[in-house]
Amino acid sequence: MITLKKTQRFTKEVRSDKESALISCPEYVAQHIAKQASSMGKFTRAIELCSCIGALCIQLGKYMDNVIGIELDEKRIKMATSNSKIYGVSDKVNFIQGDVLDHSLLKKLQADIVFLDPGWSTRKMDRSSHVNSVDDTKPSLRKMFNLTRKYLTTNIVARIPATITSLELENLGYSRIENIHIDGILVFKVAYFLEDLSKSYCVVIKFK
Ligand SMILES: C[S@@+](CC[C@H](N)C(=O)[O-])C[C@H]1O[C@@H](n2cnc3c(N)ncnc32)[C@H](O)[C@@H]1O
Repeated sequence: MITLKKTQRFTKEVRSDKESALISCPEYVAQHIAKQASSMGKFTRAIELCSCIGALCIQLGKYMDNVIGIELDEKRIKMATSNSKIYGVSDKVNFIQGDVLDHSLLKKLQADIVFLDPGWSTRKMDRSSHVNSVDDTKPSLRKMFNLTRKYLTTNIVARIPATITSLELENLGYSRIENIHIDGILVFKVAYFLEDLSKSYCVVIKFK
């Protein structure tokens, strides 16, 4: 385990490992996602599938009463639990160790909105290493999406690589697709699949 120094990526010293430091959602983007999602409906119970060190769950805890992160890696669960204390949201945010494709686990949970953040690269900026299909993320975004719709809710937000096209996303349903640019570079997309959309649309969100 390492303690990341305060940077633009995280404004507090968070517990992490080297890989998580690269694959977790930067705090300012997680803050944006949490705010954007909470402005799109009355959501009080959120679940994140693939919660890693808790970067997104922590920001969701600022807007929602009850947040659960599910993560396979026990060490990351421990780091996420420490991080939620560091950010003062541990009363609202809890982490469960488990497989997000486990039907029996998902069946027991309840949520108004679910966030999906599967793995798609450990080589942060190298676009050629990013997967370009919703079936190839780890675990498969399509499987996570379908299980979420079956057991939890149709309000789904997914963080995905920029290499996945809007057309491919539309196979899952209509969504608001945010192209997230950091320092002028498109780094990933966030798709908000919400019940009342009658078509997909794209917007650009820029961070310095
Ligand atoms: C991109 S990271 C998530 C980042 C996280 N949302 C954050 O902002 O800190 C993907 C995570 O999915 C986890 N993971 C991979 N397969 C999984 C599975 N089948 N069930 C649960 N977690 C899984 C990995 O261990 C990794 O921590």
